[in-house]
Amino acid sequence: MRREFLKGTVMKIAFTSDLHVNSSSENHDIIPAIRKKLDDNPPDVFIIAGDISSNLTDIETTLGMFRDLPAVKFFVPGNHDIWVEDEYTSDIKYFDNLPKICREAGFHPLWLQPYTIGDTGFCGTMGWYDLSLRSTLVNFTDADYAKKRFFLFTWMDKVRMRFYRDSRVLDDAELTELLLERFIADCEDVSPKTNRIISVFHHLPFRNPIVYNGKPQWDYFAAFFGSARFGEYILSNPKISRVICGHYHRRKSLDIAPGLVLHLSPFGYYEREGDRPFSRWISKRLSYINI
Ligand SMILES: [Fe+2]
Repeated sequence: MRREFLKGTVMKIAFTSDLHVNSSSENHDIIPAIRKKLDDNPPDVFIIAGDISSNLTDIETTLGMFRDLPAVKFFVPGNHDIWVEDEYTSDIKYFDNLPKICREAGFHPLWLQPYTIGDTGFCGTMGWYDLSLRSTLVNFTDADYAKKRFFLFTWMDKVRMRFYRDSRVLDDAELTELLLERFIADCEDVSPKTNRIISVFHHLPFRNPIVYNGKPQWDYFAAFFGSARFGEYILSNPKISRVICGHYHRRKSLDIAPGLVLHLSPFGYYEREGDRPFSRWISKRLSYINI
């Protein structure tokens, strides 16, 4: 049974992102390990901030593992989750397939509708990128970034992302604008009814967590990490006290401004990025905060 949240009650939030369950056997094994940890240390709220898999069946199976977890559960999609698959375009996955899968698994589709618990609002979005987080240490043109390719490496949104509106594929700036408008509307709706807002993103709304190193092979791709326009809005809304996001595969908690903290707790790709042993990875990359 869920606790009633009254003013002053501490809320325990567990969160993670970037499970990439089909990328290795260890990534696949994350899900029962997370479930066990949540059973051992039950949260009031459980959040997955995107990038489970590009395959809808994987997402259905993953979210279904938490169906009977007695917590309020939120999901926002990441770019991988909306990659084109069979006949499904990115917009169909975003607006139709994924909300249905979420609801069937007992997750609230936070990117479509905000949620309120007591005096706390939750607003979410996948977010997107518009080059505003590009590195200032390297010199690439807009045309370079439009290729989404550096040397042998392709940013796969280039080939697997097709987000249609009115029978036309949106470019990155248009998609950023669409999702920003929706996010602002959600926050403005929730703000008068709550004392604080927890915001959930997949892509980054601030450049603060990104380590730029001036190496073109790394800094080129930083342009696709997120959009500062979301951050500008967050800073203008004093009710937003936390930002939980994914996409950038580093675990961090950072003070962005007085009263505003950003959290990243991604799994990422075990073979390249996972902590050893596996048990350490699980305990580090599923994080908890009390608010
Ligand atoms: Fe991502």
